[in-house]
Amino acid sequence: MAQDIYLTGITTTGTPHIGNYVGAIRPGIAASKDPKKKNFYFLADLHALAKAESPERIARSTLEIASAWLALGLDTDNAVFYRQSDIPEIPQLTWILTSMTAKGLMNRAHSYKAMVQANEEGGSSDPDKGISMALYSYPILMAADILMFRSTKVPVGRDQKQHVEMARDIAQRFNHHYGDLLVIPEPLIDDNTAVLAGLDGRKMSKSYDNTIPLFADEKQLRKLIMKIKTNSLEPGEAKDTEGSTLFEIYKAFATPAETKAIAKHFAEGIGWGDMKQLLFEYISDHIKPAREEYQRLIDDPAIVEAELKRGAEKARAISVPYLDKIRHAVGIRKLG
Ligand code: TRP
Repeated sequence: MAQDIYLTGITTTGTPHIGNYVGAIRPGIAASKDPKKKNFYFLADLHALAKAESPERIARSTLEIASAWLALGLDTDNAVFYRQSDIPEIPQLTWILTSMTAKGLMNRAHSYKAMVQANEEGGSSDPDKGISMALYSYPILMAADILMFRSTKVPVGRDQKQHVEMARDIAQRFNHHYGDLLVIPEPLIDDNTAVLAGLDGRKMSKSYDNTIPLFADEKQLRKLIMKIKTNSLEPGEAKDTEGSTLFEIYKAFATPAETKAIAKHFAEGIGWGDMKQLLFEYISDHIKPAREEYQRLIDDPAIVEAELKRGAEKARAISVPYLDKIRHAVGIRKLG
């Protein structure tokens, strides 16, 4: 069996928050250090375009996300870390795959169907209102990301599983027409990765505006933690750890022994104010060294740019010759 190739994309539309950290960044960085694993990580800035964010927001988010992964210790010697838009072979492959993709397949994408449904429920006369072609064909660009590097395993959240399955369908159809050139990928869903609740108790997500930025300064971090929703139990009253956002966040950062100790405090009736202070101090200490490095990178983006350039060179050493083969297979050839 050939070695597995892992590939993960991060859409550059937001500021990294602690939910991203425990759900994707921390496990991703741990995997990047494994010498037995071949890992690709990239900033999906072309996907960010599809979300119609402001140009400043996309540029800033790209810097923030790259700086966060680097500051937290991503191993860019062992893994390949690049920016999607630095690899011109990806949009070329996207078009080739678009020619192999049934429109009906895109019609069935959950994300697209949800947007149509929202329009219908909102009483719009146009079910496709506000839906660009980029949003509609988003899964094809994602398929190109995956297939370009012969990925076998694609770690994603549940919401992206169908997109990886579409990449499989598209690759199979391509191979059927043109010969076995593409590697069929598999989604890798880790049900153990933590999904953190946000300030209001719902899943921490940019779309709910309930996040705690990973590198918030101490003052802001403290302020946000003080806002986390609790129930009205008084200090001295025993508290349930189950369903407590404060407990869940603490657990995501702390060791099992520390978590056990906190559970005891809950049973003994720790006050919510004290628990918030404790959580603030814990996260603040945990993040501090990386926060300093993050700030250094944000202040000197040329360092980040150089890292990404190095990653793009490694990536293109693969994508350029591979795309050549694919172009040849579909009939785009030198004439003599
Ligand atoms: N669509 C993914 C998301 O929003 C990001 C992404 C783009 C991706 N291309 C990818 C993930 C390729 C895995 C593989 O989370």
